[in-house]
Amino acid sequence: MLKAIQSFTEYQEAYQKSIDTPELFWDEVAATFHWKKKWTNTLLWNFSEPKIEWFGGGTLNITENCLDRHQTTRKDQTAILWEPNDPKDAVRRVSYGELFTMVQQFANVLLSLGVKKGDRVCIYMPMVPEAAVAMLACARVGAIHSVVFAGFSSQSLADRITDAECKVLLTADSMTRGEKKIDLKGIADAAMAASPTIESCVVYQHKGTDILMQEGRDYYWHHLMEKANASHTAVEMESEDPLFILYTSGSTGKPKGVLHTIAGYMVYAAYTFKNVFQYQDGDVFCCTADIGWVTGHSYIVYGPLLNGATTLMFEGIPSWPDAGRFWSVIEKHKVNIFYTAPTAIRSLEVFGTEPFVGKDLSSLKVLGSVGEPINEEAWHWYHENAGKGRCPIVDTWWQTETGGIMISPLANITPLKPAFATLPLPGVQLAIMDEKGTEIHGNGVEGNLCIKFPWPGMSRTIYGDHERFHQTYFSAYANHYFTGDGCKRDEDGYIRITGRVDDVINVSGHRIGTGEVEDAINEHGYVVESAVVGYPHDIKGQGIWAFVICDREHHSYEELCNEAKAHVTKVIGPFARPDRIQVVKALPKTRSGKIMRRILRKIAEGDTSNLGDTSTLIDPTVVDAIKAGADMIR
Ligand code: PRX
Repeated sequence: MLKAIQSFTEYQEAYQKSIDTPELFWDEVAATFHWKKKWTNTLLWNFSEPKIEWFGGGTLNITENCLDRHQTTRKDQTAILWEPNDPKDAVRRVSYGELFTMVQQFANVLLSLGVKKGDRVCIYMPMVPEAAVAMLACARVGAIHSVVFAGFSSQSLADRITDAECKVLLTADSMTRGEKKIDLKGIADAAMAASPTIESCVVYQHKGTDILMQEGRDYYWHHLMEKANASHTAVEMESEDPLFILYTSGSTGKPKGVLHTIAGYMVYAAYTFKNVFQYQDGDVFCCTADIGWVTGHSYIVYGPLLNGATTLMFEGIPSWPDAGRFWSVIEKHKVNIFYTAPTAIRSLEVFGTEPFVGKDLSSLKVLGSVGEPINEEAWHWYHENAGKGRCPIVDTWWQTETGGIMISPLANITPLKPAFATLPLPGVQLAIMDEKGTEIHGNGVEGNLCIKFPWPGMSRTIYGDHERFHQTYFSAYANHYFTGDGCKRDEDGYIRITGRVDDVINVSGHRIGTGEVEDAINEHGYVVESAVVGYPHDIKGQGIWAFVICDREHHSYEELCNEAKAHVTKVIGPFARPDRIQVVKALPKTRSGKIMRRILRKIAEGDTSNLGDTSTLIDPTVVDAIKAGADMIR
């Protein structure tokens, strides 16, 4: 099994080794896993195509590392501890032995549905242990899973199913988050009607709701499981065979299917989990993300299970039945490591310290933060109230594309600085670039964040569109992976992420392309054109501000707002609903027809003292009109 770094000196040594001899460094990490055949070629790469191969020649199955190898030592240990949405409902404890059986059974179910190595399977499920079973069973038979967050609309689900040509859809009857009921099967039905590639749909009966089942296509999970054999030998996979696709938003176009491959992702997810959180045997680890996002993949499912950890899967939300829910969950399950998002912390800050009263949080050792920059105030509030001033906060910077954490303190090892992700993990070679594409060396600098050497967990391609992969990440700076984020490196060499420098916004930790929201708004009958930008929002981090040109003078503003918001909810999902809609007569455009978003961003931020050069606009007076309109709705 993996051994964690024990001290800051060890971290520095490990970092140096990972730079001087990356292959040797990762060979040693990889050697702690179970391989069917050992790799022969640790790394092959170039960032110009780009082509990245780790552990070439090796064969393995990731589920043998998550499950089979723990059977002799941890059969009865809880692998997944499930806390339901409603605290009055029963908790579930799925042991490593039980999880192993369920995964083998479901692997046989997938085979019975004709799923073969390389086939794509879409997972649109609630936060239940069966969602993890579904992912692992796919990996066991060599199928590629594509988990779609269960907050996405039927249209978004259909787009994702179609893009990956998924053969099977795994879903549930319905689910509840807080008091909100979500009709998963109804949404899945609408999506399947628009996605001809789906041959079968397996429905996990979670709430026991009445649903429509289509003969010959839809099957109940428990019916298939009853008949399934409980033994399945994991399929032998190549290191670089795909493990999963996960859709994420970019500056332009439709969401892209980020593809991760087996061995590199496995090594990286496991290594980062162990070292960042300093997980020790017996600890209860709780990550509050959804399995529909990469954080759920790497730090609810794969990272913890690869380390033989107990991972707590929480179905609910922080504010229900009251604002003390997180703290009740920690107390109830004696959680040792708690990993959540700044937006959740800020939303709880509003309720003050009362929800902590009478709750015993003494089990906590480590706190984590992920998904967006954490502001200093939220950092201190989290540190003092949840951590009682004694638990370090690991502010972990990473992305869907990176597979695992890239910049973060190691808990209780790296000296902390509030709101700083601190230092790169071993294997992560950062480069801060200026606008001209030159690396800025030294400390006390600011620029765009790039990475100049491969790490095992990095994405290998965008599913079905390698050219887009190249364009998006490897074309801005030659021979560098460009993250899309800006950062500062302070005088101590510590990294502070300043946020996206492209047209991606981060709303409550959800990554959204402004173009996607514009496309959805533009579908509205009255809308001629729109431009969407982010603006600072006290709780969500960023809110969505849409500037909209309408072609009907007398259309009621209220009605337009409601319809446009409802339409975005329908096309993308409720999390992408604009917060503010401003009707404008014209948008600030350059002579070449490009919208000057920089100006709109400044207006939305309320910072109009210096809008920069507006002389290239066709009609600079447009700006004053938009400014005046913005003041009215702010
Ligand atoms: O802008 C960064 C922000 O989230 C983006 C990645 O989003 P996504 O692929 O959805 O993955 C989120 C979970 C890993 C990044 O480009 N981000 C993520 N973590 C942090 C962060 N920004 C600042 N600090 C962080 N700790």
